[in-house]
Amino acid sequence: MGTVIEYLHKAFDIVDGEPKFVLEDVNLKVQDGEFICILGKSGCGKSTLLNLLAGYLKPDKGRIVLNGEEIDGPSADRGVVFQQHALFPWYTVRENIEFGLRLQKRQDTKEMATKLIEMIGLQDYEHAYPVELSGGMAQRVGIARALAPDPAVLLMDEPLGALDALTREAMRQELIRIWQLSGKTIFFITHSVPEAVYLADRVVILKEGRVEADVAIDLPRPRNMRDKAFQDYVDSFARMIAETETEERAVCAE
Ligand SMILES: Nc1ncnc2c1ncn2[C@@H]1O[C@H](COP(=O)(O)OP(=O)(O)O)[C@@H](O)[C@H]1O
Ligand SMILES: [Mg+2]
Repeated sequence: MGTVIEYLHKAFDIVDGEPKFVLEDVNLKVQDGEFICILGKSGCGKSTLLNLLAGYLKPDKGRIVLNGEEIDGPSADRGVVFQQHALFPWYTVRENIEFGLRLQKRQDTKEMATKLIEMIGLQDYEHAYPVELSGGMAQRVGIARALAPDPAVLLMDEPLGALDALTREAMRQELIRIWQLSGKTIFFITHSVPEAVYLADRVVILKEGRVEADVAIDLPRPRNMRDKAFQDYVDSFARMIAETETEERAVCAE
């Protein structure tokens, strides 16, 4: 059934008696299993959109419908992963992943957690505490924890943003593998143009509160950032986002 975003508006401030919309008439239809990257400059409203999807914020106008039901608050059918992992430091890897499952009082908590630990390749670390993990490992645990309650969609807000370049590259491949294995719908926020082109089935560019572009990435996987076709997507998106040449260069350099 998918996700439908209709006429979505969100403002935080009133200026001269009028709401100052961060998101203004955002419309989007997403199929189940799609990998959607939301791309745009800092401050363009990406996190606001994600928080509306998560149900942490309420729209001022419009609505989001997930599998036929209007979103009206947080729920186990949406797993969220942030840039800074939010693992419980006093729980091990396994306990962190089992946390959501225990809340649901599931019978198969142990088995589910074992499957997820295998999926993220951390069998040797299941009894380690977050402080003992590298940044990439911790993010993998964060993803596994978000997937544990078997949500319909995974919402990710710049989840690779705090990682060093090499780890980030490895995690992109890892994420594609996890997405293909789990079959989840993913909303992935980034301000890195190459990252969006590497990951997405579709790239949605936000600009000035609206959907500036919604483009299917027609490249086979695994994708090669050095291909000309890849670079053509990057160049055209960078041009759409950037307002000045210097900014464009900065975006392309990432
Ligand atoms: N809770 C809030 N209260 C007031 N203003 C906010 C709040 N959250 C976001 N904003 C403003 O909304 C705009 C979009 O923010 P955000 O969605 O975080 O952008 P992005 O994630 O694309 O960088 C920014 O101008 C930001 O200052
Ligand atoms: Mg943000």
